[in-house]
Amino acid sequence: MDDTNDTFQRFQERYDEERVPWDDPAPPPEIVAVAGQLPAGRALDVGCGYGRAVIHLAQRGWTAVGVDFVPRAIEVARQRAADAGVSERATFHIASAPALSFLASPFDLAIDVGCMHSFSDEMLYGYRDELARLVRAGGVYLLFAHLREATETPGEEGPRGIAEGVIHDLFARDFALERVERGVTQVEDRPPWNSAWFWFRHR
Ligand SMILES: C[S@@+](CC[C@H](N)C(=O)[O-])C[C@H]1O[C@@H](n2cnc3c(N)ncnc32)[C@H](O)[C@@H]1O
Repeated sequence: MDDTNDTFQRFQERYDEERVPWDDPAPPPEIVAVAGQLPAGRALDVGCGYGRAVIHLAQRGWTAVGVDFVPRAIEVARQRAADAGVSERATFHIASAPALSFLASPFDLAIDVGCMHSFSDEMLYGYRDELARLVRAGGVYLLFAHLREATETPGEEGPRGIAEGVIHDLFARDFALERVERGVTQVEDRPPWNSAWFWFRHR
């Protein structure tokens, strides 16, 4: 089984067993801020989970699209968007992040809260190319990722994050990095690890 399938199985099990610690009603404050600061437009959330950011954006007048590769996550996201009365502006697709050819550009905003940090190298390049295609020139890409040291090897639970240098190198071709905020994240009873928010702008 390759890395992609391993990662899919891990997330699918989490959703099947409802071990979903990121299931807060509201998206993180960084997403709330950008949703309010930018004029409402078209937004894409890659690895949208239960759709909290997509629903928030739709409630603020955005037309928002969420993508996740776990069907159960998308099923719940659609139900929650319907319950919130925003189904017309909040749509969801079951798909993997590097395979978004069914989506048409341009998006004014793309977000990724905790998705790409578990990708294999090959997936990272495909994902970066899709974002470069989909986000309009001048559009914003907001990323939250768990970080690890470049020399750290993945543990049994899979990769705990991505080396920050990989993020810089990956996006430098197409996106200007405008701001980074580094912090520490703790999930469940696992030890805390480094993480960061990255604000990119498409060149
Ligand atoms: C940590 S969760 C965060 C969910 C959501 N962004 C949020 O903040 O509520 C990461 C999500 O990325 C999804 N994901 C991971 N790899 C993916 C891939 N290759 N394609 C699409 N979704 C993926 C997982 O299924 C999971 O829902």
